[in-house]
Formats: sequence, C-alpha cells, structure tokens
Amino acid sequence: MPEFSRTVIVTGGAGFIGSSLCQSLVENHSDWLIVNVDCLTYAGNLANVESIKGRPNYRFERVSITDASSISEVFSKYNPNGIFHLAAETHVDRSIESPSDFVATNVVGTHVLLEEARRASQNRPFRFLHVSTDEVYGSVAPGQSANESTAYHPNSPYAASKAASDHLVNSYHATYGLQTIVTHCSNNYGPRQFPEKLIPLAIRNAIAGIPIPIYGDGLQVRDWLAVEDHCLALELLLERGKPGESYNISTMTDTENLNLVRLVCELLDSKLGDKNRKSLVTFVKDRPGHDRRYALDSSKISSELGWRASTDLKSGLARTIDWYLANEAWLQGCLSGEYRKYYERMYGNR
Ligand code: NAD
Ligand code: DAU
Repeated sequence: MPEFSRTVIVTGGAGFIGSSLCQSLVENHSDWLIVNVDCLTYAGNLANVESIKGRPNYRFERVSITDASSISEVFSKYNPNGIFHLAAETHVDRSIESPSDFVATNVVGTHVLLEEARRASQNRPFRFLHVSTDEVYGSVAPGQSANESTAYHPNSPYAASKAASDHLVNSYHATYGLQTIVTHCSNNYGPRQFPEKLIPLAIRNAIAGIPIPIYGDGLQVRDWLAVEDHCLALELLLERGKPGESYNISTMTDTENLNLVRLVCELLDSKLGDKNRKSLVTFVKDRPGHDRRYALDSSKISSELGWRASTDLKSGLARTIDWYLANEAWLQGCLSGEYRKYYERMYGNR
C-alpha cells in the first residue's frame, strides 16, 4: 500500500452528501487515503462514487455501522486518524412511517463508531466529525435564527435520533476527551440526491409532467445549501474545528417551499421550452409534526474559519437541474431500483 500522510473514514460515502465529500477529498488530498464505509441501503448507490472507484487513494468497504465487529475490523485494517460520520437514515417521511431503523442506524450506529474511535484515540490523535442537522433545533420563529447554543427541540423521529446521537458524541468529548466536532447544516441540494427529497422530486416530476406534491400550504421555510459548499466546510472543520465544539453551516437565506418549487419549474421551462410547469404544483396533506421554519446562524464558522457559502440558489439550482437532465439513467435507476440488482450480483441479497 502506498504511504499516506493520513487515513480518513467517510461513513455513508455512497449517499448524496457522502459521495460528494469522497470525490472532493480524493481530488483535494492525494496524500490521504479515503475509506468509504457504507452498507448500501436504498439510499446508497455505487454509481455515485463510480468516478473515483479506481483511484489509488480511495477504498470502499461494504459494512453497516451497526455491526460492531465489522467496524472494528475496518479500524484494525486501516488505522484511521479521523472520521467524517455521515451514514444515517435521513428521510423525515420515512422516519414517521418506520422510526426503528432511525434509532438503530443514527443512535446505535453512531455509538458503535464512537467506541471504536475511543479505542483508536488511545494510540494516536484521532478526530471524529459528526454530521448532524439543523432539525435538532426544531422550528425557529420568524426573524430569529438558531446558533450553536440554542436548546434542542427535535420534532420528528429523524430529528430526535440525530439529537440523541449528537448528545452521545458530545458526551465522548466530555467524558473521554475524544476530539469531536459536531456540525449542523441546513438542507443540501445538488447532484446525486435521492429523488424522495423535495428538489430532485420536483425536478423529476416537472420533467415527467406529473403533479408536484406540496405539503400543507407550502409556506414552510428552509435554507438551501449547495452540497459542494457544505463539503468544503466539512473538510475545513476536520482540520481546524475546535474539539468539543459544534458549528452551524448554512447560507442564512430563507426560502419558502412553494417559491423554491416554482423556481425549479421556471428554470425547467426556460431550459426545455415553456410548458407552464408551475401548474403541476399540487397541495397535499401536510407532514405530521412539520417544522414551519429552519434558520441557522452560521456566523461562527465564518468568523473563526473564514467559510462562507459561495453558491447562490438560482445558479446552484440551474446547475443541479442540468445534472439531472444529463443523468436521466441515474434517476430512472433510482426510481426502478435497478441499481440494487448490481449490488445483489456483487454482494448477495442483503
Ligand atoms: P443519504 O440518505 O443520501 O445517504 C445516506 C448514506 O448512508 C447511504 O449511502 C446509506 O447507504 C448509508 N447508510 C445508511 N445506513 C447505514 C448503515 N447502518 N451503515 C452504513 N451506511 C449506512 O443521506 P445524505 O442526505 O447524504 O445525508 C448525509 C448525512 O448528512 C446524514 O447524517 C444526514 O443526517 C446529514 N444531513 C443531511 C442533510 C441533507 O439536506 N441531505 C442536511 C442536514 C444533515
Ligand atoms: O434540514 C436538514 C434536513 O433536510 C436533513 O437533516 C434531512 O436529512 C433531509 O432529508 C432534509 O429534510 P427535509 O424534511 O427538510 O427535506 P425534504 O426534502 O423531505 O423536505 C423539504 C421541505 O419540503 C419540507 O418542508 C417538506 C417539504 N416537502 C417535501 C417533499 C418530499 C413537500 O412539500 N413535498 C414533498 O413531496
């Protein structure tokens, strides 16, 4: 094996944000070994990391973070110096239907990694970067924003499972001195996002000319962060974040869901010819416990580390739409489940 100055694990590297992070790390750090640990749930897709598959500084391990002995083997095999922990069950609607997978992966899986990291940190410096969410703060009143000291108020089983894992991570810093960093980011968008999430779902339905479901009145507010901007913040924080601290990552811009979806439709009309795609917007029953507004104050990472989101929503969305238009086969594969047949051939039906 060539000599690497550092070995880092990325959990969930076959998912949306994880694949973008793996690509960025492999490109930006040829002297680091990047080990992608992902068990390939419905949301994990090896096509997402196809472009880096043969690179000398990249490895893939199909392992669940809930499987303590396999995670221990991965740590023994690679002796990592750090971890970007992204593996999770991530979709709020699924957490409402079936919360137990969220507790198993997000809480128990995080604990398995913490135990292994605690052991590793006894022999060498080790950094644990835990990727959490703005949802732990719950709904934020208009005109206000949550900073890193704001009390937690998670409302969905997903948000509660992430909050629980954050507390475990923080406890490993306070109790064992593990060098942990917790990040809270706002809604990401960009290439390779699974088409159950609002933006890829709206793009897909608008292309197909089928109804675009908007929950409730569509006036819920989110802050949309380009995945590439997010990944640069994570890289910076693994290296320069203060152990034991948490950092918010956002653009500090409010967008109502309805306006966002209308913008997607306008952009598609201008790219593909005007078909008044906005008329596809269809109001449906609201999500139970739906948080009205997320808003993060991310001035800490800006003032301490100089990070700022550099992508504005309109140009970021236009680029994202171009990616989905150019990757129709990827989208169809997600919708049909075709990509899973490849795993079954490679790894058996687990
Ligand atoms: P995603 O659903 O696209 O991907 C999750 C990945 O984790 C998949 O590749 C899946 O196979 C893997 N995974 C799931 N369970 C696993 C297990 N038990 N063992 C190993 N791998 C497992 O998720 P995403 O949107 O890329 O989110 C990544 C992280 O960022 C998550 O921790 C999520 O909570 C957090 N986050 C996401 C957003 C967002 O807008 N997408 C915003 C805030 C925080
Ligand atoms: O805020 C960060 C979170 O963003 C992450 O922690 C989660 O992992 C990620 O899934 C995402 O959660 P959201 O629930 O905010 O994302 P989603 O794309 O599901 O929904 C965005 C908004 O759009 C939300 O207010 C619900 C609404 N929505 C969603 C879907 C799928 C609709 O109106 N219609 C839809 O069909």
